[in-house]
Amino acid sequence: MTPIFTVPVSLAERSYEITIRAGLLEKLGSELKHRAVKGKVAVVTDRRVARHYLRTVSDTIKRYGIEPVPIILAPGERSKTLKTVESVLDVLARHRFERSSVLLALGGGVVGDVAGFAASIYQRGMSYIQVPTTLVAQVDSSVGGKTGVDHRLGKNLIGSFFQPRAVLIDPLVLRTLPTREWVAGLAEVIKYGIIADESFFSYLQRYMPDLLNQVPKVVSTVVKRSCEIKAEVVSMDERESDRRRILNYGHTIGHALEALGGYQSLVHGEAVGIGLVQEADLACFQGWCSNEVVERIRRIVKAAGLKDQMPRWASSKIWKAMLHDKKVSEGRVIGVWPSRIGEVRMAPLEEQVFNRWYAASQTT
Ligand SMILES: NC(=O)c1ccc[n+]([C@@H]2O[C@H](COP(=O)([O-])OP(=O)(O)OC[C@H]3O[C@@H](n4cnc5c(N)ncnc54)[C@H](O)[C@@H]3O)[C@@H](O)[C@H]2O)c1
Ligand SMILES: [Zn+2]
Repeated sequence: MTPIFTVPVSLAERSYEITIRAGLLEKLGSELKHRAVKGKVAVVTDRRVARHYLRTVSDTIKRYGIEPVPIILAPGERSKTLKTVESVLDVLARHRFERSSVLLALGGGVVGDVAGFAASIYQRGMSYIQVPTTLVAQVDSSVGGKTGVDHRLGKNLIGSFFQPRAVLIDPLVLRTLPTREWVAGLAEVIKYGIIADESFFSYLQRYMPDLLNQVPKVVSTVVKRSCEIKAEVVSMDERESDRRRILNYGHTIGHALEALGGYQSLVHGEAVGIGLVQEADLACFQGWCSNEVVERIRRIVKAAGLKDQMPRWASSKIWKAMLHDKKVSEGRVIGVWPSRIGEVRMAPLEEQVFNRWYAASQTT
């Protein structure tokens, strides 16, 4: 018997459950029936995911009398546009989907963000279920209800908070994920250990080789614990007023590096991996934590196969890119700083402190 994990996301009347089960995809029909899904279901996915899994999904849901209407997007970030959302809405309208109908988001974070946003505005909100297929999507983007698309002036600039009806996770689908995508997702997993749970961090240290080999029990445990931590944080602060910002650890520098590389040289998780180490180093520089904390983070990031060193950009460029991030408030960069593994605090970062740290770190 494969273990079934359920993780509650407690958000009053918007509460839902995350179900994690190896082999779930082949049983998706029964999972939907169990949730009283009937009639037509829109299955939003991308071409690559469709090639691997659309047949399996269609077969299982048809067996339960549900009719899939596939909506297949081009893979990758380039699809995260209002134009794509419009194309999804066109299909929903043409097939006369109703508010009570259900949309499935079958894919990575791009599919989840686009499909979730389309669901949030179609007839002022139709039900949707996340079926995430990348590690990033299983541990991060499918949980928490942030949906949206990019604008030419900024990433994720347009969107809404809209919670799914359920999140259904099959860790076995991660087997077909390209290695680079898999490793990038590990940065988010390591982040959860640093911000909230030292024993999870130690588990990751110990089982990193098994995790890299995708041993199913280890993958399921890691996905479950990551979802629990994200769900706990999101439940405390659905709309990112304060507490939810701790999820941004590693992302202040990470987002800046991603943007400076034109979203080409580093994928998101790779940039976050560097951010995890460098923001700890910056925390140490400010006296928030010991060097031992920085080195533990550096070791695990490297063990996961992620980079830990800053690419060489002028410090003024990095600072400017950090100020550009939409999580900056009133022109101030609010940093998330570890005090030890499993505990972080938030405090503003001064430009002079950043410059001094950067100059010092580039000479060592
Ligand atoms: N909403 C949120 O809270 C949140 C959080 C984190 C990230 N995001 C967003 O998520 C996006 C990144 O998501 P991502 O990393 O999943 O990227 P992605 O959705 O682009 O997927 C990466 C690639 O993997 C392919 N793929 C997906 N599942 C596969 C599988 N099982 N086997 C083989 N190939 C597969 C996809 O076709 C794609 O080419 C970004 O746009 C980011 O802004 C959103
Ligand atoms: Zn991230």
